[in-house]
Amino acid sequence: MKGLTGIRSLDPADLRAIVSKSSDLRDRLDTGSDVEQSLHGLCVANVFFEPSTRTRLSFDLAAKRLGAHVITFNPGTASTKKGESLRDTALTISAIGADILVVRHDQSGAPRLVAEWTGLPVVNAGDGTNEHPTQMLVDVVTIGRHFGRFEGLRLGIVGDVTRSRVAGSLIGGLPMLGVDVTLVGPREWLPEVGELARSDSLDDVLGGLDVVYLLRVQTERGGEITQEYVERFQLNPARSAALAEDTIILHPGPMNRGVEIADEVADSPRCLATEQVRNGVPVRMTVLEALAEGSL
Ligand code: NCD
Repeated sequence: MKGLTGIRSLDPADLRAIVSKSSDLRDRLDTGSDVEQSLHGLCVANVFFEPSTRTRLSFDLAAKRLGAHVITFNPGTASTKKGESLRDTALTISAIGADILVVRHDQSGAPRLVAEWTGLPVVNAGDGTNEHPTQMLVDVVTIGRHFGRFEGLRLGIVGDVTRSRVAGSLIGGLPMLGVDVTLVGPREWLPEVGELARSDSLDDVLGGLDVVYLLRVQTERGGEITQEYVERFQLNPARSAALAEDTIILHPGPMNRGVEIADEVADSPRCLATEQVRNGVPVRMTVLEALAEGSL
């Protein structure tokens, strides 16, 4: 099936190729160079059933920069409100003339179903607690540009890991690049995944990490923010001071300041959340271009 519904559908060589192409494209965008209109005449539909700022806007700009027409589905003002099913909605958007669908949905597996029903290439922009593959690509581009390598880097994913689709894609993709992953959080929030290390003490593992990857507590999926959680797992100034000098902090956004991250830490130079956002457009351009060429 064509599309990108999960990171595990990529092999390590594809993954590295997308990362390096995205990073080159980021450089070209930064210098204001012209970009080939490789999606000229095609129509990209953004079909987001859940709120989004970064992902939707960056897919929007990515598609436009490549010369595509962009149509946007908004469930709040669409016939979903009148009881239309996901299948009928997907077939309608396909019949209108979309060539590529970008789908976010609160049900895990929804983008794959949409791909089956429509036969169109689908990019998963986040499905339930399952995956968010382009976020993982954004993160890896950010890490690669900072460190110049992946092999042997130690990355801790901190927080509501079981309910996070971002974590789902990181866990699937980072080991392909030789990154050593540790899951950190309350025991009941840490899935058992093969040989991956797990810890319920951020303080124990902090000093040995190159990348601290913070997650938002997924309150819309049953995650609960407690005072105890904030005390044990917030990356506060004292914990940030205990990190090695060149350790970076990543966060996919939206950040809940005062919960998983303190204000001063979020605004410190070692937090590269804005840099992640900057890499969003080139990554999504690279993915859309690969879909249009049929190489994904
Ligand atoms: C994430 C999402 O929606 O999955 N955000 C994003 O796309 N950058 C993370 C989250 O909501 O916590």
